[in-house]
Order: sequence, then structure tokens, then C-alpha cells
Amino acid sequence: MSTEANQLDIVIREMTPTDIERVCEIDHLSFTLPWPRNSFYFEIEKNDASRSWVAENPDQQIVGMLVTWLIVDELHIATLATDPAYRQHRIGLRLMVHALCTAAQAGAQKSFLEVRRSNLAAQNLYTKLGYQIDGVRLRYYEDNHEDALLMSLQTIDSSRLKALI
Ligand SMILES: CC(C)(COP(=O)(O)OP(=O)(O)OC[C@H]1O[C@@H](n2cnc3c(N)ncnc32)[C@H](O)[C@@H]1OP(=O)(O)O)[C@@H](O)C(=O)NCCC(=O)NCCS
Repeated sequence: MSTEANQLDIVIREMTPTDIERVCEIDHLSFTLPWPRNSFYFEIEKNDASRSWVAENPDQQIVGMLVTWLIVDELHIATLATDPAYRQHRIGLRLMVHALCTAAQAGAQKSFLEVRRSNLAAQNLYTKLGYQIDGVRLRYYEDNHEDALLMSLQTIDSSRLKALI
């Protein structure tokens, strides 16, 4: 569906405390259980395992965000969202490829995440990146008791990932 032609220009950079207000805005627009503001602050300032990223458009407006945790050789995807007004321009894909390739340089070999069973957009994105479904956490989400699918990327292959963007 997306093509090179409708890829917006974006820059991906590390999240900083001054980004939190806008990151929370995107989080609230994207999730029924958004994170408390302090959680983003914790990730940026206190959590050594955290690698948190934002995507900025040419007007320097943040249009996507991604929080990951690098734990030994595993990259855990903690949260990912694209501003609804900017979806389907491969921003989520490019954030994920950037995070995975950067983590691979730092020693990550595998990646893990959880996704709602009903969230087909995200599942398609992860499948495109090479993740597969490994298991289910039944009734995992507090708001509607929806199941979480556990997905893993068994080998982070940077060349293959970069070829996707
Ligand atoms: C999931 C999400 C991050 C995708 O972000 P995005 O920037 O719109 O996605 P991309 O444009 O990078 O899409 C990449 C691939 O994902 C899949 N995808 C994305 N949106 C989709 C949709 N609405 N329906 C079906 N597949 C979709 C497609 O396979 C797409 O590949 P294509 O460009 O070749 O079609 C975005 O929909 C979002 O923020 N959702 C709400 C928050 C959320 O669910 N986060 C993930 C929690 S696990």
C-alpha cells in the first residue's frame, strides 16, 4: 500500500525530556491505556536499559515515538505509536528498523514484544519486520481483558531490515 512516493521526510533521533509533552499527546491519541507522563521521564532519565526514539517531520514536529529496552542481547519493544494524522507513511516501520539496527550494533540479537490480539495493523508491521507469534497471554490487558500475543524476532538481520525502508 505505501510506496516510496508517499514516504514523508522524517528524522529519527533519541527522545529527550522536552519531547515528553508531545510524546504523551501521541500516546493518548493511540492507546486506551496511555503511559503516565512520569514513565516517559523515567525511561529517558533513569532507565539505563532504555533506548527511546522519536520521528520528527521537516517542521520538527514529533510524529512518532518508540520506547525499547536493551537487556543483554534482547531488544524489548515497550511502546510504539505514530500520530494518527501521519499513519501509513512507514514511520512506524522506520522507527522499528532504526531501533533494531542500532540495538544490533550494541549487541542485540533477538527482539520481543506483546501486541493486542485485535491490533492487526501492528501485527502486520511486526510480521513485515520478521517477527513471529510465539504464544499468548490470556486476558492480559486490564481495560478489556483482551489477550496479548507474544511475538519474537529470532535474528536481527540489519541488512534485511534496512532493505525494507
Ligand atoms: C501500529 C502503528 C504504530 C503503525 O504505524 P504506521 O506508521 O502507521 O505504520 P507504517 O506505515 O510504518 O506501516 C508499516 C506496515 O505495517 C502494516 N500496517 C500499518 N498500518 C496498517 C493498517 N492500518 N492496516 C493494515 N496493516 C497496516 C503494513 O504491513 C505496513 O506495510 P506497508 O506500508 O507495506 O503497507 C500505528 O498504527 C499506531 O500508532 N497504532 C496505535 C498504537 C499501536 O497499536 N502501537 C503498537 C502497539 S503493540
